[in-house]
Amino acid sequence: MDSGIAAVTIDPDVDRQRDHWRTTFARRRDFLGAAASEPAVAALARFESAGVRGVLELGSGQGRDTLYFASAGLAVTALDYADEGLEQLLGAAEGAGLADRVLPVSADVRLPLPFASQSFDACYAHMLFCMALSTPDLERLAGEVRRVLRPGGLLVYTVRTTEDAHFGVGTDHGDSMWEAGGFIVHFFDRALIDRLATGFEVLDIAEYTEGKLPRRLVGITMRKADRSGRRP
Ligand SMILES: C[S@@+](CC[C@H](N)C(=O)[O-])C[C@H]1O[C@@H](n2cnc3c(N)ncnc32)[C@H](O)[C@@H]1O
Repeated sequence: MDSGIAAVTIDPDVDRQRDHWRTTFARRRDFLGAAASEPAVAALARFESAGVRGVLELGSGQGRDTLYFASAGLAVTALDYADEGLEQLLGAAEGAGLADRVLPVSADVRLPLPFASQSFDACYAHMLFCMALSTPDLERLAGEVRRVLRPGGLLVYTVRTTEDAHFGVGTDHGDSMWEAGGFIVHFFDRALIDRLATGFEVLDIAEYTEGKLPRRLVGITMRKADRSGRRP
């Protein structure tokens, strides 16, 4: 691609969920809103107090939170498999004079993350872990995030929960995944949160609502064990 987006191998088995996100972003600018999300505002406060400078954002979408982090001075690597969102994000970053702080990367989180070990201070993912990712996919992804975080690095991720009004509605894909409106969502319970915390210390679990439904979310903040291997 000749659009300034870093060229990274994408899962060749492109699935219909990816197509659905690409079409949705192409048709609807600011599909999830233009302003930074509430979890991003909380995450930035946490990042600033921890001295975070470089953040990996997974599932950055059209970039509402990416731009918020970049405008606060963070260097953001924004990863998504929907190139339409990344192109819109890059255009908005250029328009805001923030392009030097945003690196868009097209990749599928079901594959190993295309980054060196211990290369980020923090990872942020708003509603990415609750996409069409099976429990084994999620365990692999949590391990990959742990690999690319520096010792003591932070992971902040949000997910829709089994308290959400869409849990149990639409087409059942098994493994707590339900499809409504063409989107498959993996609804989280506490056991899954704990399962993904291997090698991390859970610092905080906060509740959020978002959108008209509203979506019922939790935001989990975790810290990777420090260099000595001890959990801080
Ligand atoms: C619910 S949207 C959230 C977007 C953004 N975080 C926000 O809140 O505005 C989920 C995002 O995850 C991306 N996504 C879903 N599955 C993915 C995968 N397997 N690999 C990479 N990105 C994925 C979608 O393209 C979409 O941009």
